[in-house]
Amino acid sequence: MKVRKAVIPAAGLGTRFLPATKALAKEMLPIIDKPTIQYIVEEAKKSGIEDILVVTGKGKRPIEDHFDSVPELEQNLKDKGKTELLKLVEQTTDINLYFIRQSHPRGLGDAVLMAKDFVGDEPFVVMLGDDIMKDKVPLTKQLMDRYDDTHASTLAVMKVPHQEVNKYGVIDPAAQTKPGLYDVKRFVEKPAVDKAPSDLAIIGRYLLTPEIFSMLETQKPGAGNEIQLTDAIDRLNKIQRVFAHEFKGDRFDVGYKFGYLKTSIEFGLRHPEVKDDLSAYIKELSKKLK
Ligand code: UTP
Repeated sequence: MKVRKAVIPAAGLGTRFLPATKALAKEMLPIIDKPTIQYIVEEAKKSGIEDILVVTGKGKRPIEDHFDSVPELEQNLKDKGKTELLKLVEQTTDINLYFIRQSHPRGLGDAVLMAKDFVGDEPFVVMLGDDIMKDKVPLTKQLMDRYDDTHASTLAVMKVPHQEVNKYGVIDPAAQTKPGLYDVKRFVEKPAVDKAPSDLAIIGRYLLTPEIFSMLETQKPGAGNEIQLTDAIDRLNKIQRVFAHEFKGDRFDVGYKFGYLKTSIEFGLRHPEVKDDLSAYIKELSKKLK
């Protein structure tokens, strides 16, 4: 069956970004001129996803409004002949987006469970709203290509520095069935650094079969007392194979302050409008601060 649907969980509390996230979802914080979630939606579109469900909590309205049309603004830009800006504004409305609210942020697993009716009986992808991925072929498309081969759930993983494994879900890899595609013995959420089975961490893209929902419905809270998607995937792996696909592109975790700053600088240094000024400014600033 073709993968057509994506779920973007964006209902977390974003505590690492307080007070900015008191009223605004962290997925709406902009990288240069686009909210983070727009990068994720663009990756979905490029991958051939047709329908997207955004799981929202607080700050829901700005997300909905961002992807809706704004007739007065569009007319104003038309009248003033600002066609480039008009194109940018119109681009955001060209996608089938649906919204559902997770009233209590009980964890990523609980957020994904909210998508049960939307997904129905189809395989689907989960794209975390605070993880931007860059590669020649979008990571979501890479997972969809794997699925065409295996017809099984496949998660994206990436090597991370060993001392950081306790922040992630980590896999205990078995053999590689194809280059970069692992069979997995176990999935462990936030292992202690000295107990982690590998340095291959689950990053923000998952392709899942609909059987994940029966696991989530009976999933007990795990690390951080939250319903962990990783724990449900570990149980799914006991009844049907779940693979891990190693991502070799660039990952930008914008869910914490330093990651957000690094991403803003790197994207700024590539942005045609600001790159020259930003690069000159950084050089000048580092001389000044020496
Ligand atoms: P994170 O753990 O990175 O997000 O969840 P958080 O909880 O918002 O952030 P901090 O740790 O408090 O700063 C990963 C993704 O899962 C979503 C988040 O919005 C984020 O995109 N999420 C998490 C939910 O949608 N619901 C939840 O209950 C938890």
